[in-house]
Amino acid sequence: MPLVPLLRRFKSKVAPNLTLNRSPLDRRIADLIEENRALRLTDDHLTAEQAVLKQNIEELSAEKNALTARLEDLLREKKESWWDGDPTETHSFMGYKIPVDLMLMTGGGPASFDAVSDFHIATLKKWIGLEANHTVLEIGCGIGRDAIPLTHILTNGRYVGIDIIKRSIDWCTGNIAAKNPNFSFYHYDVADELHNGGGTTSTLDIVLPLADASVDRIFLFSVFTHLLQPEIEHYLREFRRVLKRDGLVYATTFVYNDDILKSARAVSLTPFDLRFEHEISPGCRINDPAHPLGAVAFTRDVWDEMVETCGMRYAKPFLNGGWSGFHSDAADGQDVAILATR
Ligand SMILES: C[S@@+](CC[C@H](N)C(=O)[O-])C[C@H]1O[C@@H](n2cnc3c(N)ncnc32)[C@H](O)[C@@H]1O
Repeated sequence: MPLVPLLRRFKSKVAPNLTLNRSPLDRRIADLIEENRALRLTDDHLTAEQAVLKQNIEELSAEKNALTARLEDLLREKKESWWDGDPTETHSFMGYKIPVDLMLMTGGGPASFDAVSDFHIATLKKWIGLEANHTVLEIGCGIGRDAIPLTHILTNGRYVGIDIIKRSIDWCTGNIAAKNPNFSFYHYDVADELHNGGGTTSTLDIVLPLADASVDRIFLFSVFTHLLQPEIEHYLREFRRVLKRDGLVYATTFVYNDDILKSARAVSLTPFDLRFEHEISPGCRINDPAHPLGAVAFTRDVWDEMVETCGMRYAKPFLNGGWSGFHSDAADGQDVAILATR
């Protein structure tokens, strides 16, 4: 648009009462032309303020799109590797150099790794016993925190570890199984927000890689605490299939009743602030609706029902866990079901 009509339009719309003063006006026109160029002001019906607003909106919108794209990138990166530390950092444990990023994905860093491993092995020996010739199955073996010490115990036996984190299973295979041919590790690409975001199958599809009635001991530390009833029942049915008649299962879990919840909320002993305020089905509560499988708890009634319907039985009374601060006789951090087949 030619300069003078533009000036008239500006005056009539933006500053109708303005007394024209040519020389400041010339400067203002030059400014406006510049702004107009910058603003690409082509809509004749817009006031100057509207045009500026429109420009601001466009800029904000572009900024928002750029931020959204960046956020999506970050979320994708986070899903692939949520740990942003040094991916080559390792922790020495019983002659193995364990990748710290994988260690952290299974719930504990180098500071507690060795002590937790010692505690797990002592606990298994105490409650279900371990013999050199046992066939042992571990569900949720992670980065081999318990498989590694078991290489010194199961000298004539066999160990099978399964997990849904592929890099951990690849590491265990390349390092632990490579030195111990009686140890094997299996990956299942189960979708799980916490441990395997891009997974393509479900726990319900898992057929354990073991023959019927071939296993002496099965253990799961902090795995049923991340599963719902159908998945736990699926595993219990598979345990019933693969366990020997005198075989035993050691499975940690969270068990609640009103008094336990009251205590847990009052003391908050864990770093996860376990309050279990959200009942998602009768007798099943989750801790955080944003991450439903972050921590799952059941009543004893639900546990009794699962054990019964899956053809299992309690081989020993339930062990109480210390997580809630309610039990003075805690045997483990979590509650424990010790099971056998019926
Ligand atoms: C809290 S970590 C405990 C790891 C290991 N038991 C330990 O104590 O070092 C839970 C583990 O269970 C695995 N996991 C989660 N859901 C699973 C499923 N449906 N089947 C098998 N493993 C699973 C996770 O990938 C993770 O390694």
